[in-house]
Amino acid sequence: PLVDTKEMFKKAYEGHYAVGAFNVNNMEIIQGIVEAAIQEKAPLILQVSAGARKYAKHIYLTKLVEAAVEDTGLPICLHLDHGADFEICKDCVDGGFTSVMIDGSKYPFEENIELTKRVVDYAHSKGVVVEAELGKLAGVEDAVKVAAKDATYTDPDQAVEFVERTGCDSLAIAIGTSHGAYKFKGKPELDFARLEKITNMLPGYPLVLHGASTVIPSFVEECNKYGGKLDGAQGVPEDMLLKAGTFGVCKINIDTDLRLAMTASIRKYFTEHPGDFDPRQYLGPAREAIKAMVAHKMRDVLNCSGK
Ligand code: G3H
Ligand code: 13P
Ligand code: ZN
Ligand code: NA
Repeated sequence: PLVDTKEMFKKAYEGHYAVGAFNVNNMEIIQGIVEAAIQEKAPLILQVSAGARKYAKHIYLTKLVEAAVEDTGLPICLHLDHGADFEICKDCVDGGFTSVMIDGSKYPFEENIELTKRVVDYAHSKGVVVEAELGKLAGVEDAVKVAAKDATYTDPDQAVEFVERTGCDSLAIAIGTSHGAYKFKGKPELDFARLEKITNMLPGYPLVLHGASTVIPSFVEECNKYGGKLDGAQGVPEDMLLKAGTFGVCKINIDTDLRLAMTASIRKYFTEHPGDFDPRQYLGPAREAIKAMVAHKMRDVLNCSGK
């Protein structure tokens, strides 16, 4: 069945691990991820961005995820990633999602609270859970200066007030991660002191880490080896993600590593089989590459295999 995240997060919190939330855009991506979850007996969140809905259409993505549930019997959470306004959240709540994110992080504190509360009230009336975001994910910078950190990273006191006043079910926080393949110029660093403080001030409460791909070096090397140009791509090291899961972090978002796994596989395939032109010939191995990468994440990084 399609499920929400309440039970998943409760178990993840108590077990000191995290559930992977993987962005989906087409059938091969969905199938690769789902096959990994079956193999690893792992909990699973599939998430859909506004860009994904624009690319593939809401109906195709929801039907594909429903097909995955029907085909496998796996409990899967279908989540809206980065909902920008009330309307897109309402649309997804009404359209069968079991979880939505309202991302009001670009607004001032009071406006973020007001918008989030409005989404929470609607979603909860329909039995759907809500993720919100407080703080701004860092851009590509060396070590962010202390003053800049306080301006953009999540403030622990504000986090407590935000959760109390909005009633959101989980909270995405900024501690130094960022979206995409270029997360750090210098040495990767996350603000674990801040994560620990937020965890202690919100005991039992599930936190979410966005921008948490590792930008797995072997995929970057493979892309570059077969004609790509991804210079200086760098992500969050695996040991840091494993550590984040031992704190309040219950959901870790992964999109970039899916893109890299798929692209590395396809680049290699094209170079080695220049005469092939049937999409199944290169999308098949790409799906396998996604499955292997996701299984590795579940086992070695999220620590959610068998949970
Ligand atoms: O948060 C960003 C996710 O990677 C989704 O990206 O908006 O290009 O689909 P997208
Ligand atoms: P990555 O770009 O690090 O994969 O982050 C994805 C994400 O946070 C989706 O919301
Ligand atoms: Zn994100
Ligand atoms: Na955790």
